[in-house]
Amino acid sequence: MTHPARPWNFSAGPAALAPEVLAQAQRELLDWRGTGVSVMEVSHRGRDFMAMAEETEQDLRALMGIPDSYTVLFLQGGATQHFAQLAMNLAGPEDRADYVVTGHWSQKAVQEAMPYVNARVAASTEADGFRSVPTQFEVDPQAAYLHFTPNETIHGTEFHHLPESGDVPLVADMSSDILSRPLDVSKFGMIYAGAQKNIGPSGLVLLIVRDDLLRRPGRPMADIFRYARHAERDSMLNTPNTWGWYLAGLTFQWIAAQGGLEAIGARNQAKADALYAAIDGSGGFYTNTIDPTARSRMNVPFRLHDEALDATFLQASAEAGLMALKGHRALGGMRASIYNAMPMQGVQALIDFMGDFARRHG
Ligand SMILES: Cc1ncc(COP(=O)(O)O)c(C=O)c1O
Repeated sequence: MTHPARPWNFSAGPAALAPEVLAQAQRELLDWRGTGVSVMEVSHRGRDFMAMAEETEQDLRALMGIPDSYTVLFLQGGATQHFAQLAMNLAGPEDRADYVVTGHWSQKAVQEAMPYVNARVAASTEADGFRSVPTQFEVDPQAAYLHFTPNETIHGTEFHHLPESGDVPLVADMSSDILSRPLDVSKFGMIYAGAQKNIGPSGLVLLIVRDDLLRRPGRPMADIFRYARHAERDSMLNTPNTWGWYLAGLTFQWIAAQGGLEAIGARNQAKADALYAAIDGSGGFYTNTIDPTARSRMNVPFRLHDEALDATFLQASAEAGLMALKGHRALGGMRASIYNAMPMQGVQALIDFMGDFARRHG
């Protein structure tokens, strides 16, 4: 379903939501579940909201196949707050933790954790300009956890394999790739994700934490920072982001209606393959210099052969109904974020535009 006046939105985040989700939210805005008011105007402790929250968690568990030994939390603070908070919860003050650094966000994750844990960079691809992901490295067997960022939103790299961490629990910031393909949750100690790419609006963070990690003593801290306290209160220790939680629920239903993560994963692979093929086949007009074995299926950065054409490209693409293609300010160039809500039709519109632009300016 596409509204004719809506552009194809390639924003990295907050990113496009499925039009079906937005339309349902619009329909329910003035009267949610027969309450006569919106979901934002009812108590989170009331029967209707509690039922919606429970359904949303069950839908997510079914989609991702989350084992019973994991707790699902719907919290706040953005992924950034949890860079620090996860270190407070999963490690004691004397503990060590290992980090894999593959770009902007994993670098930030290690920096923010440093006040709370002896964080060590176990592997980094900084030397190659963050164009790859490490395949082999040594993990400290005593580390409280190994943190990595499966998809680097800005640099456009993605792990296509899981880092080997032995008995050390894997902790993954999946802000920009959660729900983009099937995943074996049992391989992880903890998964967390800011909602604003594949889940819903910003201001909501999803956490999936293995119960033994939840029981770790961490360090002395206020209840509001302690994951176990949030778990005891079903993510309602304080007033949750009710609107975000509701939209996440609609998005989970939408993913199920698309055929679940198998179907979504196949679609995402086909979209990424088509876009990279267009870039690689442009005779050097467009380039993506990421190691082909580590290219992101969600965020596709690319450059024009002549930077002087960037402004013209951005203006012409916007006029053609292709929105938010400007690359991150740290890297320049272009970036097309093609999360779940971007259909192949939108990617094809971009590919057609790029081909046409290259013919006119080549
Ligand atoms: C992989 C990744 N981690 C963390 C963040 C930071 O998220 P937030 O702004 O919600 O703190 C982002 C950006 O949205 C991201 O792409």
